Amino acid sequence: MKTVLAFAAGLLLAASVHAGDTPSDKSIAHGKFLVGYGNCHDCHTPGWGVHGGHAPKDVLLTGSGFNFQGPWGTTYPVNLRLYMQKLTLKQWIHTARTMKPRPPMPWWLFRYLSDEDLGGIYAYIRSLGPAGKEAHAWVPPGQPAPPPYLKLVVPRASPGAHAAH
Ligand code: HEC
Repeated sequence: MKTVLAFAAGLLLAASVHAGDTPSDKSIAHGKFLVGYGNCHDCHTPGWGVHGGHAPKDVLLTGSGFNFQGPWGTTYPVNLRLYMQKLTLKQWIHTARTMKPRPPMPWWLFRYLSDEDLGGIYAYIRSLGPAGKEAHAWVPPGQPAPPPYLKLVVPRASPGAHAAH
């Protein structure tokens, strides 16, 4: 009897490992926590900051919460709900480990996350389903960019500025 039970348990385990594409509620909840605490919404969810960290589900992570202009040009936080649809879990983990997007995307945050953590982020964002439209593409410096955006004004280097270092 014991052997039969152990065998059955083995089958169940095999089934759950095989179902790796269907994320568990636990993984989705973990991803939701990481996305919330990692502050992804601040830039990737429209209206998040001005509404005290709240947004209707249909706009969550749909991109362009805050756009930014600086010496790197103008950047528009991507629509993560459409973005994750285009990637497999493996591709997302690889991307998160290698990407270096323009400012002010804090890509170095992913350094602190395990594959399991990244899997949670993927599971949570995909659980929201696709919504919204693609964010505007990056606009190079000096070219007209559609507002709204926050502008970072950097002083020009004045003669002798290097002497201070
Ligand atoms: C301070 C603002 C800000 C925060 C916070 C932020 N992002 Fe971004 N993110 C951006 C901007 C801006 C871009 C677009 C950069 C570009 O155009 O090169 C971006 C791009 C991305 C991309 C696409 C990168 C690529 O090159 O394919 C992903 C994925 C992403 N963010 C995920 C996240 C996640 C997950 C979090 C939370 C841990 C997060 N972001 C937090 C601003 C932010």
